[in-house]
Amino acid sequence: MAGVKKNNLRLKFDSSRNLAPAPESKSIANIADRYDLFINGKFEKPSSKKYFDTINPATEEKLSSVAEANNADVNKAVSAARTAYEKVWKKTSAKERAKYIYRIARMIQERARELAVIETLDGGKPIRESRDFDVPTAANHFFYYAGWADKLEYAFPNKNPQPLGVAGQIIPWNFPLLMAAWKIAPALATGNTVVLKPAETTPLTALKLAEIIQEADLPPGVVNIITGAGATGAAIVNHPDINKIAFTGSTDVGKIIQRAVAGSDKKVTLELGGKAANIIFDDAPLDQAVEGVINGIFFNQGHVCCAGSRLFVQESVYKIVLQKLKDRMESLIVGNPMDKNTDVGAINSRQQLEVIHKYLKIGQQEGAEMFQSSCAIPKKGFYCRPTIFTNVAQSNRIAQEEIFGPVLAIQTFRTEDEVIEKANNTPFGLSAGVWTDKGSKIFNMTSKLRAGVIWANTYNKFDPVSPFGGYKESGFGREGGLHGLGAYLKV
Ligand code: NAI
Ligand code: MG
Repeated sequence: MAGVKKNNLRLKFDSSRNLAPAPESKSIANIADRYDLFINGKFEKPSSKKYFDTINPATEEKLSSVAEANNADVNKAVSAARTAYEKVWKKTSAKERAKYIYRIARMIQERARELAVIETLDGGKPIRESRDFDVPTAANHFFYYAGWADKLEYAFPNKNPQPLGVAGQIIPWNFPLLMAAWKIAPALATGNTVVLKPAETTPLTALKLAEIIQEADLPPGVVNIITGAGATGAAIVNHPDINKIAFTGSTDVGKIIQRAVAGSDKKVTLELGGKAANIIFDDAPLDQAVEGVINGIFFNQGHVCCAGSRLFVQESVYKIVLQKLKDRMESLIVGNPMDKNTDVGAINSRQQLEVIHKYLKIGQQEGAEMFQSSCAIPKKGFYCRPTIFTNVAQSNRIAQEEIFGPVLAIQTFRTEDEVIEKANNTPFGLSAGVWTDKGSKIFNMTSKLRAGVIWANTYNKFDPVSPFGGYKESGFGREGGLHGLGAYLKV
């Protein structure tokens, strides 16, 4: 009881506080009016002759237009990657490969500020996140995999690890530069060559990475970066001369890809959607847990495959947790992503905002109770207030389907067994979070929750050393760590 009383001391937040604007300057962002395709070490005009716009979702202003690669362009990129693989990269010593990867890592660090600004302009995430998380973690992935390049025999002893050949890599819009790093760094370390396609709403940092790769003097064709939408992605997936497909994105597209490669000898890794359970027991340090829940669902506007989008609270602390959560939501600063004080930025696209709005309606129609923070949001641009639903039933769509926005579905539980069953009752299995003071409970939970990654008393922590990936409809294969190397090797 003493614990509950102590927790009753509510932290006071002043949501009316007016912080002076602290905008990051755009002047460092060198964005061209138009970008071509990066094939064989050069920027080439697309044979499609077509370009499409990428906008800033925070203002709806056009930033640039980028080439739309058609089948002929994909053929060109794959053939450049094949030639580079056979003639150059396969024969390049592991130590030399490592030098290039280190060089790319260092150049990302040198241009960190520019990359962070462009990431925020193109995708809408708060500058604080692109500056402190996306860009440094991307550089870390290159540093980490550079270190493995000449140690593959130690990673896979007596297995004679060999590269697969040409890797086709398709990435989403939620962590554009970081996902490019997750894909490219292990592929290069293991001696493969690459054709990478960024998502259509956020192509710019991948194109900046192409500039870095060019400056790093990586042999032409080892990395090719081509832009386009779903059809370009499909052309990569279906190309007969590709040996490996690495995809991160929606479960729907993941299923299409799996069907497309069935019967071929392409190796595949799929990192798909999630609907993670974040679980608070009554013995948890509640303020810390609430902070973790906030981070788990509102980080990057909830555009996170491992977002803690379902919250399970033990009944005895439900009221106090809910109150603390609402108080904390009121203190979140929502708005201009370029402001260094902003906690929640812009939704990535109009299309994604519509998806989120659809689920807000569905949740209310299903009988759940909606609460949104009362903050003002900008009139122009795509924004959504931090939202929670209570009175949620296990069968509700908002508790079952990935929303990919700042929307949390809250349920309660009484016992460990009950919450394990509820948490596992989903088609997904990517991540989970457990908040408790008791080590034995952590061990019990982590061994019974069906999720690829489980955080205890923390959330959304990433490191290049730890493998990441899911079960069930969250996909298969692991990225990061030693496991991430295996996905690019014949052993
Ligand atoms: P998406 O899965 O369509 O897009 C991801 C990437 O796949 C993009 O580069 C896209 O151009 C490419 N792509 C699309 N169709 C393809 C095809 N047939 N073959 C090969 N590549 C293809 O995701 P979308 O439509 O942008 O978002 C829809 C929903 O997907 C979101 O609301 C969210 O729930 C989920 N999603 C999940 C992500 C995750 O990391 N788990 C990332 C992005 C979206
Ligand atoms: Mg954009």
